[in-house]
Amino acid sequence: MDNPYKPIPVELVDTYFETNDRQLKSFKFRILDEDVKKLFDYKPGQFAQLSVLGKGEAPFGIASSPTEGDELLFTINRIGSVTQALHELEAGDKIGIRGPLGNWYPVDKFEGSDIVIVGGGYAFTTLRSLYIYLRDPSRRSKFGKITIVYGAREPGLLLYRDDLEEWKNDENLELVLTIDNPAEGWTGKVGFVPPVLKETAPSSENAYAVVCGPPVMIKFTLPVLHELGFSKDKIYTSLEMRMKCGIGKCGRCNIGHKYICVDGPVFSMAELDELTADL
Ligand SMILES: Cc1cc2nc3c(=O)[nH]c(=O)nc-3n(C[C@H](O)[C@H](O)[C@H](O)COP(=O)(O)OP(=O)(O)OC[C@H]3O[C@@H](n4cnc5c(N)ncnc54)[C@H](O)[C@@H]3O)c2cc1C
Ligand code: FES
Repeated sequence: MDNPYKPIPVELVDTYFETNDRQLKSFKFRILDEDVKKLFDYKPGQFAQLSVLGKGEAPFGIASSPTEGDELLFTINRIGSVTQALHELEAGDKIGIRGPLGNWYPVDKFEGSDIVIVGGGYAFTTLRSLYIYLRDPSRRSKFGKITIVYGAREPGLLLYRDDLEEWKNDENLELVLTIDNPAEGWTGKVGFVPPVLKETAPSSENAYAVVCGPPVMIKFTLPVLHELGFSKDKIYTSLEMRMKCGIGKCGRCNIGHKYICVDGPVFSMAELDELTADL
């Protein structure tokens, strides 16, 4: 884009509550200008800044996969002023978007390997994008077995339940869903993500892991992955941080000598160790 600070106009095509507690809403946006649409070339793991006039701008992971067509999907937790304004939008409303921003999951590196995707709570957004990208018929044969372990507090808080239902039929996918406490009608696992991952025990031989979730989930998941034999350079995660410009100019989002907005948000655990060693 000519001016990286200038938001591109997008129209809200559809919006719906994603979770039963009505805290998380999904939004499908359409870029209005056909030429600009062609330039919005993104990969799983990237994010964009959404701006609502008079309210401000905030970064959100892109939950759609580029393989799904032109509409951009975001799933947004209502916690403050920008997210509240986004939740008030209706189909047909127009807002601004800047992006795609940041790096992406290293899917080229994953070729020829098994992949273990571990998600918790609403951090499943870019993991949805990643799995939909990997399962695309043009690409799926490049990867081995995929295991997804995804957990939420209760069934109504799992994101993308229609997708999860569809994925249950995918070949060479082990989809393990878990909730924290037993619930009526629930047929998946019960328990936190780390012990369920341990029980699932995906092989680490020729495999990569991608982990996104609340910090406490990541903290207890890493030792399980190590126990399973995943080394730090084979475990990736995506960081969420306070951001302003999203393009490496304002200095708001650094860890050590790196900016999360341009050098990340995706890092391997080995890279994160190096970054925090500088602090
Ligand atoms: C790369 C990236 C991807 C993200 N993807 C998503 C996504 O897919 N869906 C989603 O719902 N959110 C996502 N976020 C978080 C989102 O950007 C914040 O929730 C948003 O900026 C809040 O804006 P606000 O104006 O509504 O909140 P504010 O009014 O600014 O703040 C409300 C409260 O939230 C806290 N807060 C605000 N931003 C953050 C943050 N980044 N981390 C921790 N606490 C914060 C504030 O301290 C305050 O207590 C992502 C953030 C980053 C950096
Ligand atoms: S948000 Fe400005 S440098 Fe990263």
